[in-house]
Amino acid sequence: MKVLIVGGGGREHALAWKISQSPLVREVLVAPGNAGTAKLARNVDVVAKDVKGLVELAKTEKVDLVVVGPEEPLVLGLADELRATKIDVFGPGAAGAKLEGSKSFAKDFLEAHRIPTGMSKKFDRSGAAKAFLEGQKQWPQVVKADGLAAGKGVFIVSSAREGCVIVDQLMEEKRLGSAGVRIVIEEFVVGEEVSVLAITDGEAILILEPVMDHKQAGDGDTGPNTGGMGVVSPHPTLSSRVMRQIEQHVLVPTLHGLRREEIPFRGVIFAGLMLTDSGPKVLEYNCRFGDPETQAVLRRMKSDLVPYLVAAARGKLAELDGPDWDRRVCVGVVGASEGYPGEYRRGDAIEGLDEAGAVEDVVVFQAGTRASARHVLTDGGRVLCVTALGDDANVAREKAYTAFDKLRWNGKFARRDIGLKRPSKARIVR
Ligand code: GLY
Repeated sequence: MKVLIVGGGGREHALAWKISQSPLVREVLVAPGNAGTAKLARNVDVVAKDVKGLVELAKTEKVDLVVVGPEEPLVLGLADELRATKIDVFGPGAAGAKLEGSKSFAKDFLEAHRIPTGMSKKFDRSGAAKAFLEGQKQWPQVVKADGLAAGKGVFIVSSAREGCVIVDQLMEEKRLGSAGVRIVIEEFVVGEEVSVLAITDGEAILILEPVMDHKQAGDGDTGPNTGGMGVVSPHPTLSSRVMRQIEQHVLVPTLHGLRREEIPFRGVIFAGLMLTDSGPKVLEYNCRFGDPETQAVLRRMKSDLVPYLVAAARGKLAELDGPDWDRRVCVGVVGASEGYPGEYRRGDAIEGLDEAGAVEDVVVFQAGTRASARHVLTDGGRVLCVTALGDDANVAREKAYTAFDKLRWNGKFARRDIGLKRPSKARIVR
């Protein structure tokens, strides 16, 4: 098979790493890819939001399967266009991708199908949004841009004043362009975050190993929200009982809801959840593999991923048994560029990639990187993710940071607390 992976981040490097190991695969193309994917696949210079260019590429290269990494091309209808030309594609059409592309659509969907989530209200006018914030007694509140914002559209505000500034920036000054002209204001849900990813063809569902992401930029969950600064899989505080609740109360009703609304969905449903004292609640849906969740999940997947991608793309997922998992823990540490998630540096040479990759049980997945004649250079906010396997979180953590500390670039930063969270008794006995 010839497989085209769309995207150029750490998730796509991990997908290329895993897919290229499949005996079913003859060639892997990545559009546009990064310096990491260039080592194990053929990068093609077509950007992920160029729907026409990608369809053309898939046709001229006669690819057998397209795997779409990021949300933007899915929201723009890439999967619909590919399906119309009879090319197998792993990723939902625009109707399914709306679960991620519009926060208000997702909230309406959750409420309509009685899937547990925080209370929220949507606003199309800034005056009404500000009046709502001024009437709140409970702080903090969460202000979300309705549209896609590359992980930068969620604001936790601790007063009406702070909230009103964000409302003005989004709705009046259009800080995030059209993504923020509608907003959702949501109660702040307290608990432990879990990312649950499931492969589906709209009929059957295959739940992947759960992951703990670390969204905030600073140690101890401080600082601004990011796309994710580190991962641990399996999730350290999630019991199998709560996992069953998530399956019964979130994933299965999501699938039923999609069917009832006649929305086909072949790809990944990724539920970002909060484990609260009253059970799991959905914070958001994503319509694609998570980043950096995928890096940890794929390190632990022992089975070939490709048969699952193909089966989901063809509506035959029920024919497969579940994959085998490595029982070890994976810790993934994201290395970022100074300034991220705001304006960040680019173009700094990265040293130590070979030394880091040589640490036992470590794989370094590159994200925002590009190759120059002599060096791999930083080219994004999240530069790479160092993943390590170990018999427990301590061992995996030790290896991940040992490898991470061998890497050098100007402005490098990371959280130092990935893999430190331990099961709390309260969580485990529920
Ligand atoms: N790590 C969160 C995401 O992929 O959206």
